[in-house]
Amino acid sequence: MSMNADTMDPKVSINHLYKSYGEETAVKDFNLDIAPGEFVTLLGPSGCGKTTTLRCVAGLERPEAGEIRIGTETVVAPEKDIYLFPEHRNIGMVFQSYAVWPHMTVFDNVAYGLRVRRASGAEIKRRTMNALELVGLDQQADRFATKLSGGQRQRVALARAIVYEPEVILFDEPLSNLDAKLREQMRDEIVRLQKEVGITSIFVTHDQSEALVMSDRVVVMDKAVIQQIGDPQDIYANPVNSFVANFIGVTSLLEGKLLSRDGEVCDVEVPGANGHDGLRIQAIGGEGAQAGDKLFLSLRPEDITLHLDKPEGTGHGNVVQGNVIDTIYLGSFLEGRVRVGEHEIGIQIDHYENLTPGQPVYLSFQPEHGLCLTD
Ligand SMILES: Nc1ncnc2c1ncn2[C@@H]1O[C@H](COP(=O)(O)OP(=O)(O)OP(=O)(O)O)[C@@H](O)[C@H]1O
Ligand SMILES: [Mg+2]
Repeated sequence: MSMNADTMDPKVSINHLYKSYGEETAVKDFNLDIAPGEFVTLLGPSGCGKTTTLRCVAGLERPEAGEIRIGTETVVAPEKDIYLFPEHRNIGMVFQSYAVWPHMTVFDNVAYGLRVRRASGAEIKRRTMNALELVGLDQQADRFATKLSGGQRQRVALARAIVYEPEVILFDEPLSNLDAKLREQMRDEIVRLQKEVGITSIFVTHDQSEALVMSDRVVVMDKAVIQQIGDPQDIYANPVNSFVANFIGVTSLLEGKLLSRDGEVCDVEVPGANGHDGLRIQAIGGEGAQAGDKLFLSLRPEDITLHLDKPEGTGHGNVVQGNVIDTIYLGSFLEGRVRVGEHEIGIQIDHYENLTPGQPVYLSFQPEHGLCLTD
C-alpha cells in the first residue's frame, strides 16, 4: 500500500526537527511526512539518530526545535511551548528488548493498556483476544510470559502495541534479538499485520535488507542528517550519494574525474597508480559535475558481466581487464572480487564458474549501469 504523501493529509508530519545531547547533534533538520497506512523505515548506521527521532515522536525525548504532528494534533513544538506526554499521544511502541511483564499472563500483558484506559471488562476481553489472534497467540492467552520463546514475547509486545488501536506504531529494531530464521518470520508477520490493520508505522533498523523488504518508503540517515528518502527500488537504483550507494546493497565505488559529458553519458577517467594504466569509463549520472570534477563511479555486482576471454565485437559497453582475487559460491550464484589496476570490483554471476585467484578475466558493463555520484 504505497501512498502518495502529497495527495492526502499526512498521519505523521515531522518538520525541522533538531535534537542534541550537549555538544552532540543527534538529529538535524529532519523533515518527513508519512501518509496514513504507510510503512516508513528509518535506516542508517549506529549512532545516526534513528532512535532519537523515534523517541521524539513518542514523546520520550524533547527536541530543541521543530514540530511534530500526529493526525491534526501538534504533539510537540518547543517554539510554541507545546509538548504532550507520551501517554497523551495516540501511539503504540515495540522495542528491541521484549519488555513483557514476566509475572503476568499473556492476556494480562496485552490487556494492561486497556485497563489503564479504563475500558469495560467485556471490551477488554474482546479487544485483547482480537489482538492476540492477529499475532497468533490466542491459544496462549493464559500462559505466563516467562514460558514464552523470544519470538512469542515479541508477538506479545506487538499485540500490546496494537490493542488500543493507536494511530501510529513505532518499532525500534524489534527483530534484532531474534535468531536469523525467526527474524525473517517475524519480519513477514509484521508486514502482514501492518497491511491487515492498515496502521501507519515507523520502523527503525540498521539492516538494509530488512528495510528494503518491509517498507513502502525508506529514510536513509547518516550523521544526524537525512541523506535520501524514497521507495526501496528507487533508493537502490538511484542513490543520491556514495554513502547511500554503499550502505544499500553491495556496490564498488571507484574514484575518478569527469572528462566530458555528451547528453546523458559521462566520460570518466579513473586514474591508475603504481604503474597501472588508468581506466576510461562511460557512465551516467553526475548531475551538476563540471569537467575536471571528482566523481565516484558506483557499480553494482549484478550489473557486471564476466568474460574468461577478451569479449569480441561491439555492444559490450565498458570492458576492463583484471585478475580474480577470490570467489565464494552461494548455492544459486557466485560472488567474487576482481582486481582491476589498484581497484577492487565485486561481481555476482548466476552460475558456477571455476575461477582461481590470480586468473586474468574481463569485466564488461553498459554505461547505464555505471552511476556517477558527486559526493
Ligand atoms: N541519552 C543520550 N545522551 C547522550 N547522547 C545520546 C543519548 N542518546 C543518544 N545519544 C547520541 O546521539 C546520537 C544518536 O543516537 P541514536 O540512539 O539516535 O542512534 P541510532 O541511530 O538509534 O543508533 P543505533 O543503531 O546504535 O541504535 C549518538 O551519537 C548517541 O551517542
Ligand atoms: Mg537506536
